Amino acid sequence: MDFTVETATDAVVDSFRETKDQRLRQIMESLTRHLHDFVRDIEPTLEEWEAAIGFLTEVGHKCDDTRQEFVLLSDVLGVSMLVETMNGSEEGTESTVLGPFHMTESPRRELGDSIDLLGTGRPCVVSGRVLAADGTPLPDTELDVWQCNEEGFYDVQQPDVQPPGNGRGLFRTDGEGRFWFRTVVPSHYPIPTDGPVGRLLQATGRHPYRPAHIHFIANADGRRAVTTHTFVAGGPYIDSDAVFAVKSGLITEFSESHEEQDAERFGVTAPFTHARFDMVLAPEAEGTR
Ligand code: BEZ
Ligand code: FE
Repeated sequence: MDFTVETATDAVVDSFRETKDQRLRQIMESLTRHLHDFVRDIEPTLEEWEAAIGFLTEVGHKCDDTRQEFVLLSDVLGVSMLVETMNGSEEGTESTVLGPFHMTESPRRELGDSIDLLGTGRPCVVSGRVLAADGTPLPDTELDVWQCNEEGFYDVQQPDVQPPGNGRGLFRTDGEGRFWFRTVVPSHYPIPTDGPVGRLLQATGRHPYRPAHIHFIANADGRRAVTTHTFVAGGPYIDSDAVFAVKSGLITEFSESHEEQDAERFGVTAPFTHARFDMVLAPEAEGTR
């Protein structure tokens, strides 16, 4: 049969019929159908298709050990969050994208330590509990935390300004599943825009900003680990995250506290900024949404 606009999809789908791995066959067939429908829909000129291949080539060239432009592309197209959401737990805290700045090992810290190694920012305490869905505390949960500073930069972006490990900490919850640490209120910041993904955002009139957030990975024995953020309520871009990662259950008030007793317990002086963020971890065997 001649290869025509009408017969193209069947011809390519049929070419995968000997695929032994049934999942791979399903994926290739579906990819073919959707890709062909997309091409029939937009009817690209040869120059446009060449430009598309050129764009993807640039995305590849931008990748190295510390930069993953394909993940960034997946992020700004909402695919990363779609996959996260489809694989998220039904009863646990919602997950969000890992992001590119979890690239170094967080230093182990004690509960109550400060992750603001420069001590120049407005003091903020983040506290909370890690629990099972029925409220049972999860002691000894490992909490990996990372965030940018008040200017919107991670330590790895400012090696001449911030010491390595600034804004990062690896904590363990206490016997009642509690955690607390000192830090600064993070700022909103732009995702990396010096590559083809940045150009795509500019060409489509989109801004590159993420609302202010603190990243967490919570990991406890017998529980599904969760990669998530808590977002600063009311901050810029909370309704238009460039990577679509905001979920209302993850938004936290960072409010001014005048509680002297809390201040003493947390090793700060009142008034201080206090954010309370609890996390729920589903059992390991629980299915996905
Ligand atoms: C981040 O939150 O670190 C991040 C996530 C996705 C893309 C860029 C940055
Ligand atoms: Fe981030």
